[in-house]
Amino acid sequence: MSHILGVVKQRVSEALVAAFGANGQGMDSAVTPATDSKFGHYQCNAAMGLARVLKSNPRAIATRIVEDLKVGDICEAPEIAGPGFINMTLRKDFLTGRLRDLLGDDRLGVPLDGAHGAAARVVVDFSSPNIAKELHVGHLRSTIIGDCLARVMEFRGHETLRRNHVGDWGTQFGMLIAHLKDRCPEALTETSEVDLGDIVAFYKEAKKRFDEDESFKERARLEVVSLQSGETEAIRGWQVLCDQSRRQFQEIYSLLDIEIEEKGESFYNPFIPDTLEELEKLGLIVESDGALCVYPEGFKNKDGDPLPLIVRKRDGGFNYDTTDMAAIRYRIREEKADRIVYVTDAGQAQHFAMIFSAAEKAGWLGDVEAVHVPFGMVLGEDRKKFKTRSGETVRLRDLLDEAVRRSRAIVDEKNPELDEVTRDQVARVVGIGAVKYADLSQNRISDYVFSFDKMLALQGNTAPYMIYAYVRIQSIARKVGIDLTTLTPDDIATLETPEEVDLAHGILRFPEVIEAVERELAPNRLTDYLFDLSQTFSRFYTENRVAGDPRETTRLALCALTARVLRKGLSLLGIQVLDQM
Ligand code: ARG
Repeated sequence: MSHILGVVKQRVSEALVAAFGANGQGMDSAVTPATDSKFGHYQCNAAMGLARVLKSNPRAIATRIVEDLKVGDICEAPEIAGPGFINMTLRKDFLTGRLRDLLGDDRLGVPLDGAHGAAARVVVDFSSPNIAKELHVGHLRSTIIGDCLARVMEFRGHETLRRNHVGDWGTQFGMLIAHLKDRCPEALTETSEVDLGDIVAFYKEAKKRFDEDESFKERARLEVVSLQSGETEAIRGWQVLCDQSRRQFQEIYSLLDIEIEEKGESFYNPFIPDTLEELEKLGLIVESDGALCVYPEGFKNKDGDPLPLIVRKRDGGFNYDTTDMAAIRYRIREEKADRIVYVTDAGQAQHFAMIFSAAEKAGWLGDVEAVHVPFGMVLGEDRKKFKTRSGETVRLRDLLDEAVRRSRAIVDEKNPELDEVTRDQVARVVGIGAVKYADLSQNRISDYVFSFDKMLALQGNTAPYMIYAYVRIQSIARKVGIDLTTLTPDDIATLETPEEVDLAHGILRFPEVIEAVERELAPNRLTDYLFDLSQTFSRFYTENRVAGDPRETTRLALCALTARVLRKGLSLLGIQVLDQM
């Protein structure tokens, strides 16, 4: 079943054709949810656009549209307002019917597949930190946003390949392996697992030697050669280093409840020769200064010279560009992706635009949609790049621990009667949820200021507020002594009060919001909606008594559905709910 916005749009499109023939054909129905419920539920602005085309009065055009608008089964008579807006208010019996259907629908009205055809396969490339380096707040954004998008795709029924494109290859391994040979030679021979301790500290030590000691630098260079030619000891060293990093990353993923499959840069090494050969055959490779380059059209540096993707360096080595070319080809050819989504900081926008353009030119892309999902920076409260007080990059682990610690302090203060285990659980769910929600609720392109106080506040567009709204509904049910899952469609009587109607409409908007998140790859569409819904719920609950009212069961059903939408919505953001807090 189509969501309500879809139905209204469809009806308006039909009216446009009926009233204006060819002029109305293919025209945008310009229907949006009303900004204020006193104007009804949906608004159509098509008359303004048409008036410009037809050089006529928008109000007269709106009147013509309304004459042909067949919405009697879903709306009250449409009203024309101001210069020519058409306002539509949904009928109570229509909303009631939809609400009854929803009660028995465990997908809450969200259809499986659709926007991207049958069982589309989507690759989501996210998180993707670099081995032996710190997982920093930039990776946090990629991890949280990418996970949310993957969850939405999965819920919509797309086969979703969650890919961790870790930086596990490259010249930096030369110095790491050389340093490993000195510091921990047993790591290269023993078959048992070795623990190198903090891998980031290890990286820093190696880097220091590399910068200061010429002979070490030379050894590092030779190790790169050994690694690239597959020499056993170098490979073993590389594996030890990767494993150590992997364990550190995994701790964070467990804490964040993230599932992701590693196919790092090195995975694509075997596919590089074929990739280059194919590009060569297509005549796309140009030699420049000994390096092999691909020049996608339309990319220039600041001097106006064309910008290359360097697919083979002068020394014969491969780099980030090479791997991404091999990876996109693999994802299309081998993994048969229909859509490939890359979640990284906005700074890499040009890199991906060039990769997509080159893949297009090579004829790989076809109908496949490759998109870069960029995001802005995380700022400190001083609005500068987020750093620790001593000026270092903030370690993700510390940041998450701090969120949980602070959230625990709040629980201890507000709810000392909860037992220890419950308080720990609340602190974890709320603390981690708060960090995720704060990130996802931003327009992802903008930079945002990281503030523990704001994200942990019980009021406002925050995780604690949303989780609390859910908890409140659970406690209403406990008070009435009812299991909300036992309600059936017959329990819902026709809606009456304006707050009931608003809440029902809010609940029924869930599918159109999910569609928007999927289309725009914008998690904040979902957080905005959930925030709106919980505020609508608050107004409903203030004005409409539930327990003991003659309309108790209908209202309980509204409570039940609100709770289900909140729980599902939050779970798509990667956030859990609680029964009490
Ligand atoms: N490792 C990169 C970084 O830390 C991100 C990789 C993104 N994915 C890709 N296919 N290039 O910035």
